Amino acid sequence: MRAPRSGFVCGLSVAVGAFAMSAAAQPPAQAQAQATEPSTPPWQAATPWPDRIVVTLEQDPESSFSVSWRTSAEVEQPRAEIVLAGDHSRIDIGAARVDASTERPDLTAKRVGDEEYPLRWNDHVAQPAYHSVTFTGLEPDTLYAYRVMGAEGHWSEWFQTRTAPAAGTPFRFLYFGDAQDGLSSHWPRVVRAAFAAAPDARFAIHAGDLVNIGSRDFEWAAWFKSVGFIHGMIPALPLPGNHEYFDAIRAEDGSLIDGLSVLWRPQFALPRAEGLPEALSETVYTLRYGDTQVAALDTMGGHFEQQAAWLDRVLAESDATWKVVTMHHPLFEMVERPYYDGTPERRDALLPVLERHGVDIVLQGHDHSYGRGATWSGPRSPRAARRGELGTVFVTSSSGAKMYGIAEDGWQRFDELGAVLERAAENTPFFQVVSIDGDTLTYEARTATGRLYDAFRLRRSDDGPNRLEELPTEFDQERRFDNTAPYESTRFDTVPPLPQGR
Ligand SMILES: [Fe+2]
Repeated sequence: MRAPRSGFVCGLSVAVGAFAMSAAAQPPAQAQAQATEPSTPPWQAATPWPDRIVVTLEQDPESSFSVSWRTSAEVEQPRAEIVLAGDHSRIDIGAARVDASTERPDLTAKRVGDEEYPLRWNDHVAQPAYHSVTFTGLEPDTLYAYRVMGAEGHWSEWFQTRTAPAAGTPFRFLYFGDAQDGLSSHWPRVVRAAFAAAPDARFAIHAGDLVNIGSRDFEWAAWFKSVGFIHGMIPALPLPGNHEYFDAIRAEDGSLIDGLSVLWRPQFALPRAEGLPEALSETVYTLRYGDTQVAALDTMGGHFEQQAAWLDRVLAESDATWKVVTMHHPLFEMVERPYYDGTPERRDALLPVLERHGVDIVLQGHDHSYGRGATWSGPRSPRAARRGELGTVFVTSSSGAKMYGIAEDGWQRFDELGAVLERAAENTPFFQVVSIDGDTLTYEARTATGRLYDAFRLRRSDDGPNRLEELPTEFDQERRFDNTAPYESTRFDTVPPLPQGR
């Protein structure tokens, strides 16, 4: 029997924004008709020239990096070149050639066995080709220049990217919560402010829901247009959220049959975790970067007990000073959730693993608001009685335009679970800069104008828990809709409107 389709949506963000306008706000009929015509903007259409160029870290980041890019489908024999980034003009002389591998994903339908599930939002999109290379045998902490080619002679510009340092070298990285909405309107200023604040960031974590409809090419076009050259230089560490599973095909009992966006694996060359089901390939992974072990989980991909066991092994085998876990759904929630999504089960599976291995910080998304708290070993509640030994810091953040309100009991929910919420914000997109320097981790959450909203420092000691030092910022502890802008103002239409019937 044909399994029913179900798109998982983030509560209030159902994809009917275009139909939710008030009567007074309706555009003239002619303009509306034009707006609903499917169209492919020039920055979406694939051509013989490479675009959507993104660096990722599929293998050891001290000695390699990967690059993926897109062209029109007819491109054959794409390749890339790499060379040390010298100070002289003609760096291209002597560059090494690397042939690329190519995939041509079908954007018009998902196929599961004999069944075909159309992806109507891509009806007007021409077949693309996705290419990737992994440059290997590189020197650590070294700046390289590379370029990629589509059709013969159709080269990108030369990009520069730096390999990972050995342990002991300070570095910093970026972290973004959900971009998802306003990708072609509001998100660009956030991601570009992040680049302006930390142009030397060594990688950028995107903690799920990068787009709203995971297989919809238009949204990825907008996402890549927003990051522009940034991810040609700074490696991306993306992980999927529920919206990358928007086109998931599920059995009647809700179990996943086939889920992930058809674009995910072709457009990001990511590590493959050992010992996990193939369905989690390139959605669950870990990498060691300098003194830091980063592990990414897939809260939508199922097999969560196996993911927890895998994380247990990864953390047990790592001697990294700092342990960072990132996943889309938060383990502690501050917002009202209109539907059940398995948070208690995930928390039960993961908290013991995080505690056992002293994970320092967990970076999350999904809630479209900001919260930063931590688990403590001391008296659990009320808040005034807290403070034993610091456990793990948890952050939930959002970089996109869609915003949810914090529940009235949001602060108390942490208390009841043995954690303390320190800061919370509605209606404010953020980017985060995390700096690693020996036994010190410094965390900053900044607004789109670059102002500092939240900051703290973690210090490790060899024989005890981390010490947490709050740092001064420019804002109060809490930002709410009633001191920023009305909640309704942050609901977003999807532009252009979606084809009807889905
Ligand atoms: Fe989400």
